[in-house]
Amino acid sequence: MDSNGTDGAKGNMESKYHYLRLANELERDIRAGRYRAGEKLPSLRSLRARTGRSLTTVYQAYTELENRGVVDVRDKSGFYARPQIDRILPLPLSGRQVIKPHRVAINALSAMIQNSMIRPQMLPFGAAVPAPGLLPLKQLAEEVRDAAAGYARGNIIGYGHPLGLAELRTEIGKRAVGFFQPESGEEIVITNGCMAAIDVCLRSVARAGDIILIESPTFLCYLQLIEDLNMRALEIPVHPESGLDMDLLEKALEEHDVRAALFNANFHNPLGCLMDDSGKRRLVEMMAARRIPIIEDDIYGDLYFGETRPLPLKAFDRDGLVLYCSSFTKSLAPDFRLGWTMPGRFREKVKRLRFNAAIAVPQLGQLALARFLAGGGYDRHLRRMRNALKKQVSDLALAVARHFPPGTRISAPRGGMCLWVELDDRLDALQLFDRALEENISILPGALCSTTDRYNHCIRLNCGYPLSDEGERGIAVVGRLIGELLGG
Ligand SMILES: Cc1ncc(COP(=O)(O)O)c(C=O)c1O
Repeated sequence: MDSNGTDGAKGNMESKYHYLRLANELERDIRAGRYRAGEKLPSLRSLRARTGRSLTTVYQAYTELENRGVVDVRDKSGFYARPQIDRILPLPLSGRQVIKPHRVAINALSAMIQNSMIRPQMLPFGAAVPAPGLLPLKQLAEEVRDAAAGYARGNIIGYGHPLGLAELRTEIGKRAVGFFQPESGEEIVITNGCMAAIDVCLRSVARAGDIILIESPTFLCYLQLIEDLNMRALEIPVHPESGLDMDLLEKALEEHDVRAALFNANFHNPLGCLMDDSGKRRLVEMMAARRIPIIEDDIYGDLYFGETRPLPLKAFDRDGLVLYCSSFTKSLAPDFRLGWTMPGRFREKVKRLRFNAAIAVPQLGQLALARFLAGGGYDRHLRRMRNALKKQVSDLALAVARHFPPGTRISAPRGGMCLWVELDDRLDALQLFDRALEENISILPGALCSTTDRYNHCIRLNCGYPLSDEGERGIAVVGRLIGELLGG
């Protein structure tokens, strides 16, 4: 592989295939418990003899596993299995009750917290953002420069197409093939990020006073939006491994007149969990039987830690009732503010509302992204970014286990960049937030992830940055503050 992670020549595809296959086999063995945490893995030579692969392939497979945070390398000693994310600490406890529909009043608290989180020099465990070092910024800058030449050539004029740049919609459409069954004539609508897509979708299917189903805990921007639109939130507990509690969902649907749902089934923010395909199918069918639209947020879908990209809910949609939303914010270019929606049978209303709200999305970024996608740069970048995030999540989880008091529980993210931490239920995480801020450390208090106080003892940590020595010290400080607040 060259320094860009690309295949220098066609012949390299073979060896790449072999090392990835070997890495995946070894990782499956570790997951199956064939190697325990801390146990030494076969040496390069013995693995070569056992598999018949070349020494280079075996070495590349181990390097891949090291990049994923699945093995540790000890100098002159070899490769050792790392603890698996779901075995580091116990999982958080999941809620057992549906909470009755609530008006939301989170904006004031959220504004206060968000303002303090953006201070410079802050250790960035608060907002879910990727480190700039994980992003292909140089290549993007080149694409922007080349795209900007379009101004001089007169290619970028006026507002552009009302749905967004055709080249970008084509590239997004290509990536959706295989997992979407779009409604006939369904179009991709480009938006200013994922939340802008969710905003128009929610306004297309519901109005003030309506009950909106959401996961519990949930992403705070959903709560803010529901508050702004004067709707009511109905929270359904999410299991940290399997996602939405389907039995409680069924009960809620029997008891309440639900207008729409807003779900994040792939690498849920804040838990990082993933619903399996049978759960997704059941969910989509259950909602379709009641003609309730689902707004699906798939922003983390490309950032999976397993072997394949999970299907979105939209893949199971036969009725055009899933309004799919996503963006490049987490996976490629936070500042481009480029997202999109495929709104199924609600397309005409979504198109109108999006046009009325924003008229158009700047074309320069769209053109640059379309070029980057078309050149294969996104897929190469994602391969590296997924490994990096998987390792960062594991590193941060291990640091939490080292520094937080006994009794701490953490989620076991299967993708994305959020780690959910459940602490002693006497802890007030808003106080912890204030104390951490004084130490220049940002964290997200769980109070922002619900309309209730049930997560007041929880925090969400961003794993988007590699864990530096300073980061490790920061986690140690947070651990100490937790102990102090608990009177330890
Ligand atoms: C689940 C989820 N959806 C949407 C967003 C926001 O996306 P965008 O910045 O593209 O609007 C975030 C950002 O944290 C998120 O975590």
